[in-house]
Amino acid sequence: MPKDVDTDRLRESWQRYAPRYDRDIRLIERIQFGGGREWVCSQADGDVLEVAVGTGRNLPYYPPQVRLTGIDFSPAMLDIARQRATELGRAVELREADAEALPFPDASFDTVVCTLGLCGIPDDQAAIAEMYRVLRPAGRLLLLDHIDSHHRLIHYGQHLLEKLTLRMIGDYQTRRPLPLVEQAGFVIHRRERLKAGTVERLAATKPGSPGLCI
Ligand SMILES: C[S@@+](CC[C@H](N)C(=O)[O-])C[C@H]1O[C@@H](n2cnc3c(N)ncnc32)[C@H](O)[C@@H]1O
Repeated sequence: MPKDVDTDRLRESWQRYAPRYDRDIRLIERIQFGGGREWVCSQADGDVLEVAVGTGRNLPYYPPQVRLTGIDFSPAMLDIARQRATELGRAVELREADAEALPFPDASFDTVVCTLGLCGIPDDQAAIAEMYRVLRPAGRLLLLDHIDSHHRLIHYGQHLLEKLTLRMIGDYQTRRPLPLVEQAGFVIHRRERLKAGTVERLAATKPGSPGLCI
């Protein structure tokens, strides 16, 4: 998919927005995504990569035994995530990186998590391909996001809202990750659609046997 958004400009928007993100997302998160972070993080296992980790709002929900790495392209978001990790006493390696070109070798992780991230990463297809690449065979992909509703009226409202959110922080309201996840080669094993079809929780697996890197 061709990029129609300038990544540097988008990063700058997130840099500016970082100090307000936690305050702004709190209510939306409770109303629209309630239980979603718990759903995703409770299924994470082993070496875990969180893509577009933001301010680290998932950190409290991971099982204590996972070995956690988080990437984001905004240093300001990462600074807040670092502070949150310190307050929680949670060990996590946080790195500045682009989700579309992950700085990790193939088959490095057992789990890849991305929440509220694919709606804003300019080339979501490239990011999903990278998630596939860095996962080990039989590794798990766990996603939570707002997506295009199947209700026509709601879809129309999302389409209008998207004009605003795209301009503000490059955030799409009408994306649907599922077909891209399937095209990338993942096998879907859990899918939940909530809130009139505007929220999706996805758990998928990279085919293969654990320990077999091909
Ligand atoms: C809506 S926030 C979600 C943050 C966090 N995942 C959460 O659940 O609260 C989107 C995040 O994606 C990051 N982001 C957007 N495009 C990115 C890219 N190409 N590479 C890495 N991070 C990106 C932004 O910096 C921001 O932190």
